[in-house]
Amino acid sequence: MTTIAFSASNNRQSINHQLVSYVAGMIEGAEIIRLTDYQVPIYSIDLDQEQGIPQATQDLDAKLQTADKVIIAVPEYNGNMSGFFKNQIDWISRQNREFLQDKDVLLLTAVPAQGGDTVMNIMKHTLPFFGAKIVDGLVVKNFHQVFQDGEIVDNEVKTQLIELAKQLVEV
Ligand SMILES: Cc1cc2nc3c(=O)[nH]c(=O)nc-3n(C[C@H](O)[C@H](O)[C@H](O)COP(=O)(O)O)c2cc1C
Repeated sequence: MTTIAFSASNNRQSINHQLVSYVAGMIEGAEIIRLTDYQVPIYSIDLDQEQGIPQATQDLDAKLQTADKVIIAVPEYNGNMSGFFKNQIDWISRQNREFLQDKDVLLLTAVPAQGGDTVMNIMKHTLPFFGAKIVDGLVVKNFHQVFQDGEIVDNEVKTQLIELAKQLVEV
């Protein structure tokens, strides 16, 4: 079993990266990657036709194809995924439309207050389009209160995250 975990954020201090790293830490051998290591220009059909798929996109697809399980923590920007992540998806879908085919995907979202449900619903509907099998999803609200000094301090949330990690491993 190979698990890859990443956040769909380009924020250096990403709370979603913090959350996904925490959950990946519960799964033996899980590898945490950063999408910012795969920088691509804004997608355009013209660029695609003139220059082809960027090497970074090809590398990201190759990396994802080494995994059978994926954990993605998606930030909510204006009720949706960030432009950064949508752009990554647009490029990778041109490289390999089924880039999540047969992969078990655990979805997470960390938000500073009470949001997050809208992007979670959107991701649950969007990612199967690329072949993902969604195992489950959890929105962690009030992240700065719930996560302190590298630890989830809310017992209920911690139990939920442990259960989700177990679920992903056992599915
Ligand atoms: C442009 C923008 C839009 C945002 N929209 C939302 C939103 O719709 N819902 C929400 O809960 N938080 C929203 N936020 C706050 C983010 O949840 C917060 O900045 C969070 O840290 C982003 O996750 P990240 O740190 O992993 O990138 C927004 C932030 C920005 C910069």
